[in-house]
Amino acid sequence: MCGIVAATSRKRDIVPLLVQGLKRLEYRGYDSCGVAVWDNGLKRARSVARVAELEEQIKHEHLHGEMGIAHTRWATHGEPLVCNAHPHFAGDEIALIHNGIIENYEEIRAELQAKGVVFSSQTDTEVLAYLVRDCFHGDLLKAVEDALNRVRGAYGIAVFCKQDPSRVVVARQGSPLVIGVGEGEMFAASDTMALAGETDNFIYLEDGDVAELLPESYKIFKHVGTEFEPVEREVRQVQAFSNAVELGPYRHYMQKEIFEQPRAIADTLEAVREITPAIFGDQAAEIFAEIDRILMIACGTSYYAAMTSKYWFEAIAGIPCDVEIASEYRYRKSVPNPRTLVVTISQSGETADTLAALKHARELGMDKTLTVCNVATSAMVRESRLHFITRAGVEIGVASTKAFTTQLTALFLLTLTLAKINGRLTEEEEAQYMTQLRHVPKAVSSVLALEPLIIGWTSRFADKEHALFLGRGIHYPIALEGALKLKEISYIHAEAYPAGELKHGPLALVDESIPVVTVAPNDQLFEKLKSNMKEVEARRGELYVFADSDTGLSSSEHIHVIRMPENYGALSPILHVVTLQLLAYHTALIRGNDVDKPRNLAKSVTVE
Ligand code: G6P
Repeated sequence: MCGIVAATSRKRDIVPLLVQGLKRLEYRGYDSCGVAVWDNGLKRARSVARVAELEEQIKHEHLHGEMGIAHTRWATHGEPLVCNAHPHFAGDEIALIHNGIIENYEEIRAELQAKGVVFSSQTDTEVLAYLVRDCFHGDLLKAVEDALNRVRGAYGIAVFCKQDPSRVVVARQGSPLVIGVGEGEMFAASDTMALAGETDNFIYLEDGDVAELLPESYKIFKHVGTEFEPVEREVRQVQAFSNAVELGPYRHYMQKEIFEQPRAIADTLEAVREITPAIFGDQAAEIFAEIDRILMIACGTSYYAAMTSKYWFEAIAGIPCDVEIASEYRYRKSVPNPRTLVVTISQSGETADTLAALKHARELGMDKTLTVCNVATSAMVRESRLHFITRAGVEIGVASTKAFTTQLTALFLLTLTLAKINGRLTEEEEAQYMTQLRHVPKAVSSVLALEPLIIGWTSRFADKEHALFLGRGIHYPIALEGALKLKEISYIHAEAYPAGELKHGPLALVDESIPVVTVAPNDQLFEKLKSNMKEVEARRGELYVFADSDTGLSSSEHIHVIRMPENYGALSPILHVVTLQLLAYHTALIRGNDVDKPRNLAKSVTVE
């Protein structure tokens, strides 16, 4: 979380570039934002409003400079107040921005206070700024290196100092950071997208790297013990797209991304000609031959994609599958099995807990790793032996939508691949599944056409404070994802249950005031689900049911039914989740919430 941009140029005022970068990085956090430049002294503008307001402030204050750093914040240490907003200064000498958490900041803070430093914020970042100043003896790079030798935690940082104001020092440990190589100017950012249009030449720094940027040159050093040794890193040509950040005819990114799903799924499938291990990487055939179970690790929406696919792996491919929340797995004592395929799922590929869990699995001797990810250049992809890149395109809305359905598409392809290897997929079945998969984009479009009916329901949700979601079997994780979407953006407390579990507790909550959203595909559990719905009805609960058209369910006094265009068999979760995304989106709209930037959340969670 938090987004950082830095630039040093000999030929132009870089403030507009920094502001533009911040706008594109707002998805990483939006509690506050700020820009600092060198303009015959350290100058800065900071705001707890959005970047658009900061831009106005900058115009008023005439902030200009050929070198500067900028930050958009997701608060960890200290409330979202201007005094806690980055950039932080150490006196009038050092300016610093930071994405991450310095774990031992309290002890360093106390030490610096004893030396007379008076802090003006509650942040760990200001402590780091003063630590750099404390280590400074004429060479900024050396000062940053010495300071980093003292800290524990995660960081992506950019620093400059008054003694040498065209030089920016950046460093990375656990938080993403790229260098952009320009002509007569150098940049750094948390994400290439921030620099789209400025350069296509990027260097992905690795953990432990420190770099010094001057307008015409850069140097990179890697951390070895307590030393920093010069290192070469590949300059890659990456066309970062900023048009992904344009809203087009949509009101919100989330709405745009929901409606992009047919395209995103089609693009994800486009590269797949046939079911073969090769779609997951060169070593896939060899690795898949050596596994007899799967361990899936993820967070948030990606975790629900993992949960959904467990049903496919076990039912279709016949492979035992465990699903773990990354932040739990990484810290618990588990029993490793080297014949496990470790699958990490992540939209961003940078989520700190998932990345750490992947490394943890490897340390336990499980090196057969595969990442399903939407960002080809991400840390998780680089850390895994195999990968599948979903082609959802940049996802900006904090509440994940198209990333989820493309992850499911990828995981279904993995299911078919493993089923084929295990001799559990006939040629005929393979052809049938592939035809079905290729038809999914069209089927999703038909589900999107249900939007007016869903809008019709949302006025009944908007004044509620609680909602229950029910599903069974493979649609239970879909109910979980629906509840997550609703709580994330509408702030309605929503819980999902496997419908059979209702009678063991949550039924006590049911009365006429609580909407019960039910995912009702026409599968082998439908009759059981109907009984669960009767239990709700008998308690005067209000049911909102998304039912497959062939279930024969229709609306009555306390049951509201929207019929899905078609029953989609094994791939049904991909269709059903779309209705729940729309339900959450329109409910949040009525409640007047900032759909794309729900309070307290961020898109990319690079702290644990
Ligand atoms: C955050 C986002 C969620 C996302 C989760 C995991 O919480 O708001 O939308 O599902 O992180 O992110 P990842 O990038 O690993 O899928």
